[in-house]
Amino acid sequence: MLVKTFHTGGDRNLAYLIGDESSKQAVVIDPSYAPEDIVDFASAKGYEVAYVFCTHNHGDHTNGNVAFERATGVKALLFGDVDPATGTQLAHDASLPFGNLELRVLHTPGHTPDSLCFLVGDALFTGDTLFVGKVGGTDLDHGARAEYRSLHEILMKLPDGTRVFPGHDVGVKPSSTIGNERTTNPFLLREDVESFIDLKRNWAAYKEEHGIA
Ligand SMILES: [Fe+2]
Repeated sequence: MLVKTFHTGGDRNLAYLIGDESSKQAVVIDPSYAPEDIVDFASAKGYEVAYVFCTHNHGDHTNGNVAFERATGVKALLFGDVDPATGTQLAHDASLPFGNLELRVLHTPGHTPDSLCFLVGDALFTGDTLFVGKVGGTDLDHGARAEYRSLHEILMKLPDGTRVFPGHDVGVKPSSTIGNERTTNPFLLREDVESFIDLKRNWAAYKEEHGIA
């Protein structure tokens, strides 16, 4: 399985192409600011894009969808959309096969109500739900509580070796693992939702105190 990361611009936005090397079928996540680069890469390497997915409906993740569809004929799917080929709706635990691989949809509300993560093999694409050393921005009430549940009841249930590929390159490195985030991410080390919200409220001071950029 190939995971190709694209630094697309914007606010250090990241896009991904996941390729099945035997069938040459691929899926693309959040083409964002670089749809042409992804289309060029796919055609240079002989990949056919079976699906395009967006992790959530924020403009910095969806702004490349129209250009991508124009170039490939493949329409981006978001939470709740129905895949026209299979009739599968993008809902929690839905699976969409491509080549010899399968993409599993995880509904992880918090940053937005429609936030999704995508699991392909041992690779998890977390959008703006989980970053390297941080978590997605929310309000300090319902959004934060939903995000806490999504993080602990869904993402932290995955094996430690699961690779984490976020929607923005805002950490000390572009990607991580569930095990590394479980043991080092200050938001995931908070023992309950109230102290999780407290860290969000005081994040600027925490960063300064701990020398975090
Ligand atoms: Fe976002």
